[in-house]
Amino acid sequence: MTSVMRSVVTGVGGYLPDRVVTNDDLATRVDTSDEWIRERTGIHQRHQAADDQPTSDLAVAAARRALEAAGRKPEDVDLIVVATTTPDLTFPATAAIVQRKLGCPIGIAFDVQAVCSGFVYALSVADGFVARGRANCALVIGAETMTRLMDWSDRGTCVLFGDGAGAVVVEPRAGEGGTTDRGLLGFALRADGTKQDLLFVDGGVSTGQIGHLRMQGNQVFRHAVVNISEAIRAAADDAGITVASVDWFIPHQANQRILEGVAKRVGIDEKKVISTVAQHANTSAASIPLALYQGLQDGRVKPGQLLLLEAMGGGLTWGACVLRL
Ligand code: ACO
Repeated sequence: MTSVMRSVVTGVGGYLPDRVVTNDDLATRVDTSDEWIRERTGIHQRHQAADDQPTSDLAVAAARRALEAAGRKPEDVDLIVVATTTPDLTFPATAAIVQRKLGCPIGIAFDVQAVCSGFVYALSVADGFVARGRANCALVIGAETMTRLMDWSDRGTCVLFGDGAGAVVVEPRAGEGGTTDRGLLGFALRADGTKQDLLFVDGGVSTGQIGHLRMQGNQVFRHAVVNISEAIRAAADDAGITVASVDWFIPHQANQRILEGVAKRVGIDEKKVISTVAQHANTSAASIPLALYQGLQDGRVKPGQLLLLEAMGGGLTWGACVLRL
């Protein structure tokens, strides 16, 4: 086997704001019920950032835990990629704000905007730096305050989302080029801009208003299972592994029915699915690293295991990643 440079995840962290909002809490604001939300989505509750807590604060808390797990210090970090659709400010990038708050030295810092697929996209971007020797210690963060994008009179969307952040440290390690190497082994990324109307925010800087999240939920649902399944197979091919051989399936946490539908379609045993949707709801770009963190914390996910990540979000964007922890 030839020697290759791999981008290896060496630490994982997560952070959820203290405030918990239950389905019953939401039922006092819009015409919905705990029963409807649980049955259609699997969601029981979500976390909501404090009024004075911007996305960067959530990102920093998750990043500190990831750095500690990797045995790294803020001084070591030379690349920060934040996947977010809810940045603190239009500019600077949330990644640059995180760099300042963590006290990292001058390096590379920017955001990636691919909505719920952002973390998978950001991992791929970081791989491009780390595996080419252009970064030695990267922080890849998914961080969101999605509750700030909600139209609280729209029961079709406001019950689905929550706030949170997850982070990983990615470092270069020599591998042999095979599937037993640790690191990011395969990707498949996709976007279809013609499906914009299914899931979007009806505002932005050049429209003069912040806007709210709008979604044709049943249409998104229909695309999700088919699109994600194709990307999963492509990422598995890219990595040279079979889908059945993965130890853990760590999907974007949008809806329990989508998680189960995708797992069934691609032939993944339901016992291998890490689901946090009941407790976290949909935290957009944060949901995959938060689920990974949860799996590590409760002892299910272990170093050396083969993981399959996938996501789909506004754009539409979607994608999958195979990695050995
Ligand atoms: N409580 C009670 N009733 C509701 C609620 C609610 N919170 N929301 C909608 N309903 C009603 C609708 O008004 C409709 O009523 P009607 O039949 O009288 O018109 C009925 O429930 C059915 O509505 P649907 O939208 O068809 O319900 P569906 O079974 O599709 O479930 C859901 C909706 C949960 C949103 C589902 O479609 C879904 O999960 N979609 C995918 C979401 C997703 O994955 N998003 C992608 C990621 S998000 C991102 O990228 C930012």
